[in-house]
Amino acid sequence: MNGPKPLAGILAVSPYVGGIHSLPGIEKPVVLSANESPLGPSEHAVRAYVAAASEMHRYPEGGSTELRHAIADRFGCDVNRIVCGTGSDELLSLLIKAYAGPGCEVVHSRHGFLMYSIAARVVGATPVSVPEANYTFDVDAILAAVTDRTTMVFIANPNNPTGSYISADELRRLQAGLPSRVLLVIDAAYAEYVSRNDYTAGADLVEEFDNVVMTRTFSKIFGLAAVRLGWAYCPAEVADVLNRVRNPFNVTVAAQAAGIAALADVAHIDRGREHNDTWLPWLTREMNRLGLTVHPSVGNFIMVRFKDAESATAAYNALLAGGFITRLIAGYGLPECIRITVGLEEEIRPLVACLERHLAAAS
Ligand SMILES: Cc1ncc(COP(=O)(O)O)c(C=O)c1O
Repeated sequence: MNGPKPLAGILAVSPYVGGIHSLPGIEKPVVLSANESPLGPSEHAVRAYVAAASEMHRYPEGGSTELRHAIADRFGCDVNRIVCGTGSDELLSLLIKAYAGPGCEVVHSRHGFLMYSIAARVVGATPVSVPEANYTFDVDAILAAVTDRTTMVFIANPNNPTGSYISADELRRLQAGLPSRVLLVIDAAYAEYVSRNDYTAGADLVEEFDNVVMTRTFSKIFGLAAVRLGWAYCPAEVADVLNRVRNPFNVTVAAQAAGIAALADVAHIDRGREHNDTWLPWLTREMNRLGLTVHPSVGNFIMVRFKDAESATAAYNALLAGGFITRLIAGYGLPECIRITVGLEEEIRPLVACLERHLAAAS
């Protein structure tokens, strides 16, 4: 073949496979595979999105300035150090594009979010996967894996798919143990769901240190996964770098408008958090009642462990047959587990009943 060839390593990348949203033969399946908000978007965000349609012949304001101000007001951040992106995925990829490449190592934990290793491979960097302790990011093991070639360390806190988190003290110990040339990226996609006194999403570390970035998303509690919107809070130098490498109009008009409206709808966010506070423990208890192990989760999903990969796949398939789409997470090195988003009561009660029937039939 004499055709065009991609850069070395690209063909070794396994494309990210998202949660499925449809099932042949089932008109309205229950989708609990992508940790989206079961409450949907804020009505205000929907109205803002629709209102933006009549201006779709205009380019967006390239700096997402009004949105960045709304984020800064809401989260108490410096507006000049916020960079918005097409989902936090884009920002994670851009950070890797700017701070890693051939010969560089990108360190992440064994069951960490898959995009870190995918994006590292795309730029020719080497992802370094570090074992976890009890399905939780292990600060000592991560620090021990840092070499002269390490340029970035990624942590999802809380982590997807395990649901575990590390405390603010542990996060600080991680930062303190890293050489100042290593960029620590704290991916806090699920921060809004966490109500633990010892948790920080990481903005305080960004304020304090020149080598810490925090990424956030509108895809989870804000219910805007389809519009693709995320933001990064960065040291000034890193914000400058991101603004050089991002596309000039990376956030659409509709996304900016929906994001501003979603931020203002505090009652909707509160409802999302209250829903999760009620139904996350309920779902965990129910799984335990069925004899299944659930690693304690502080996100809007649980990771359920079966006795082996075969049992997990059988349960996943039984749920699919019942119209419930969950997620197999063998790609995360967890073939004996499935991940289930905390859905609406009318979704997760029948899911539990379906799983209970399957387990009874299988025993
Ligand atoms: C830990 C983590 N980080 C980032 C993302 C990507 O989110 P976004 O929709 O903002 O690209 C996800 C999505 O599931 C996630 O679980």
